[in-house]
Order: sequence, then structure tokens, then C-alpha cells
Amino acid sequence: MMDRNLALDLVRVTEAAAIASAKTMGMGDSHLSDQQAVGAMRAAFDALEIHGTVRIGEGERDEAPMLFIGEEVGRRDEDDPKMDLALDPLEGTSLCAYGFPGALSVIAMAPEGGFLHAPDIYMDKVAVGPVGRGVIDLAAGATENLRRLARAKGVKPRELTAIVLDRPRHHELMAEIRALGVRIRLITDGDVQAAIATCNESTGIDILFGVGGAPEGVLAAAAMRCMGGDIQGQLHFKEDSQVERARRLMGTDDVHRVLQMGDLAGEEVLFAATGVTTGDMLRGVRFVKGGCETHSMVMRSRSGTVRFIDATHDFERKPSYTSEGLLERMGDEE
Ligand code: FBP
Repeated sequence: MMDRNLALDLVRVTEAAAIASAKTMGMGDSHLSDQQAVGAMRAAFDALEIHGTVRIGEGERDEAPMLFIGEEVGRRDEDDPKMDLALDPLEGTSLCAYGFPGALSVIAMAPEGGFLHAPDIYMDKVAVGPVGRGVIDLAAGATENLRRLARAKGVKPRELTAIVLDRPRHHELMAEIRALGVRIRLITDGDVQAAIATCNESTGIDILFGVGGAPEGVLAAAAMRCMGGDIQGQLHFKEDSQVERARRLMGTDDVHRVLQMGDLAGEEVLFAATGVTTGDMLRGVRFVKGGCETHSMVMRSRSGTVRFIDATHDFERKPSYTSEGLLERMGDEE
């Protein structure tokens, strides 16, 4: 069983990454925003009393200097528990770089073998909150899923709201959804937070549809596990080399099938996320004199407890949060 206190340790890591990237908000430099988040997250991991292995990360070893797939992180003492990690130091890089809502820093943790080793390609997804659990079927198409969800919720399809990434590849999907009179919330990026939002009535979002990142699918599944929602995904291949890569990473030839929530994330997971810019579930980092405030969520699948954490950080007492490297690069003008 995973020590529940680890959940609170995880949130320190997402807070550090969120703060570092939020400092670059609106600078129009996605690479810088991402770099800041990755560097801060990587450094914060050292304090974590685990022997962790990154399973969903910044890419394969040759494409990512830090937090690459297979990288070992954490204190790694002899007695530290072996854990698998799925992470995205900055989910919605452009959202942060251009000051749009919905960027967040996110980590999920599970005992070894707890996550699908998904390649960094696309995944077709459908995700719903607890009421829709067990009624969705990706293979059945949007119309059928909306009808089923409406029935489960005791409403008409036109009373539902779907959330979809605004991409040309979704034009047909949007037309199908609109034909039923269902409202659509279009987002420019960030389908992890969008999936999570289906689990919270107050967001007014009932279902997520569409093709986004496969790693984001695994992260969303970890969150849905904790919140009692449901998600299915199917890898979306553009070329043969991606099929090969998926087979290698996932250790199976069967890479085309519809993946259930349980295939994406195991039964026992911890999940932590901190808002970078304000979104449906989390407020973004707010800088105040000498420090900042963060808003995070921490969840455990075993208990189903969802905790929201408001934190105030004092940069003087916690200088690591000031990310000196960034200030140097940008010129620290008085
Ligand atoms: P990044 O954080 O890597 O920029 O991903 C943002 C995101 O919008 C994800 O939430 C989503 O799953 C994916 O990109 C969609 O990919 P694309 O922008 O190629 O359509």
C-alpha cells in the first residue's frame, strides 16, 4: 500500500514547477516556460523519499535532458518504495506562454507497473464524471455516447455540455455533437484539466471528446480513478514507426484496441496538480509581495478523498522558488 503522506510530498513538487513556470507567463516563449517547469520539478523530486521511475515524462532519453522516460528520480535510499511516475511539469505549455487559462503542473504516482507505458503520440479519448461511469464506449461514437450519458443523467442530450480541443481534426466531431443540440466548450489546449472537469458538477462540463496526447490520457486516467469518473482511449497512429514504438514501449502487439481506464492507470494511484494559470478546477499562481499563492488538488484512488490546497509561499524563506536561473536569463531589472 502506498503511504498516503506521499500525496502531500507530491504536491510540493507540482507547486515548485507551477511557480517556476508561472514566472514566465505571457512571455510568449513556450520553450522557456517548459524548461522552467521541468528544472524546478526535477530539483524538487530529490527530496521525495521514493525510488521513482518516470514512465510518462518529457520524452525518450535522447530527446529530453530531464525527466525522460526511464529516468530514476527521488531520494532512492535502500528502503524507499519503488514507484512509477506519470508527469507533465507544464501541461498546456502555450497556455502559460501566452497567458491563457488552464495550464497546470501535474504528477501521478503508482506502485511499479501502475501506468500504461504510452508513447508520445495521439490518443482518441472520451471521459466522463462518476454518473457516466460504465456507460461510455469509445467505439460507439459521439452520438451514442451522448445519448447514453443523457439517459444516465436523466436529462436530454441538449442539456449536456461537451468539451473539445479546438482543432481542425475535430470539425466532423463538433458537427456531430452540435447536431444533437449539445453545447460545446472549445479549448485551445489542456485536455487533462478538461477531463478532470467532467468529474466536478460545478464546472458544467459533462463529457470530453477528441484526440489529444496519449501521455495526457494516462494522466487524466489517474485523476479519473481518484474522482470516480471514467475514461477510454485509443492510440491514434500517423505512421508505421509509431506503431513499432508503441509495441516496444507497451510490450504488446495489441496497440490498436480501445484502452479502458484500468489499462491506462492501475487501481492504486496518487495524483497531484497545481494551477499555473486559472482554469476550470484550479486557480493559477498569484504573485504577491515577497512570495506567491498556489492552488492545488491532491487525490488518492484508495480513499477517493479530493483535497484542494491553498498555499502561501515566502520567497525569502524558500529561495529555491525564486528560480535564480530565470532571473539571470531575463535580466533582473530593479
Ligand atoms: P503541451 O503541454 O505538451 O503543450 O500539451 C498541450 C495539449 O493541449 C494537451 O493538453 C493535449 O493533449 C495536446 O496538447 C494536444 O496536442 P496538439 O496540440 O498537437 O493537438
